[in-house]
Amino acid sequence: MPNTLNQIKIAKSFDSATNSYDISARLQRYTGKHLMPWLPEQQALTVLDLGCGTGFFTELLSSNFDRVIGVDISNKMLNYTKSHRQRVNHLVAGDAYHLPFQDNSVDLIYSNLVIQWCENLSHLFNEIFRVLKPSGQFVFTTLLDQTLRELKSAWAQVDNDKHVINFKKDIDIKTQLSKQGWQLSSHHVQDVILEYENVLHLARELKGLGANHVPKKQNRGLAGKDKWQQMTKAYEDFVEPNGIYPATYRVFSGLAVKAIS
Ligand SMILES: C[S@@+](CC[C@H](N)C(=O)[O-])C[C@H]1O[C@@H](n2cnc3c(N)ncnc32)[C@H](O)[C@@H]1O
Repeated sequence: MPNTLNQIKIAKSFDSATNSYDISARLQRYTGKHLMPWLPEQQALTVLDLGCGTGFFTELLSSNFDRVIGVDISNKMLNYTKSHRQRVNHLVAGDAYHLPFQDNSVDLIYSNLVIQWCENLSHLFNEIFRVLKPSGQFVFTTLLDQTLRELKSAWAQVDNDKHVINFKKDIDIKTQLSKQGWQLSSHHVQDVILEYENVLHLARELKGLGANHVPKKQNRGLAGKDKWQQMTKAYEDFVEPNGIYPATYRVFSGLAVKAIS
């Protein structure tokens, strides 16, 4: 289970978003569904939904594969999945860095918008590699640098604190995978622009998703009223002619195969 302060805070943040998550998860639904065409057709497979959250995709996967296990670092997310997703039979509390599964035991790992929460890609990909069977598949989405670029830029005009998590570049992901013996058989990068009524709407959605924990932020808690107002003013540079506030999410989708050595 979470074994660093940062992991504990991430788990806590997702714990507290459990009940608001599903109504806020429009990006997650979109990216998760777009991974479906990459899934194998065989049914007799053992599949992990890594970072399963409220279990929306764990349930979908459970209709396609014989043995699907939802794994998450947040106990409240797991409890929610248990009580709301009738077709989900296996749930395990676990951290992506220390998966509670044996070597070479899983055919497919599906993971939708989770690994941006894992700073150490090398450690993470090693762990996923360990658990997958030879030729096993890792099908995932994550967020790249430029995600929330409008929010980051608006805050940069106000102070030097960190208000948005560090997202990796696509080259970091590709380089790490190839160094560790993965074969990246398909991937693409897409900017998804979501629309908001105002900056408060965006902030509420991020909180509703549990995506509001920022590691290494110096000033904990809410920004002061003045700073918040300066930031929302700066965000107006991005407002579209119809008054919509856009937010960019740069999504990396990948299908990586554990090459047979
Ligand atoms: C944005 S949600 C995505 C949930 C789900 N995959 C979906 O598509 O709706 C991220 C999930 O990853 C989980 N998570 C974050 N870091 C994790 C880690 N190190 N190990 C396991 N789960 C983690 C969170 O608790 C949360 O439920």
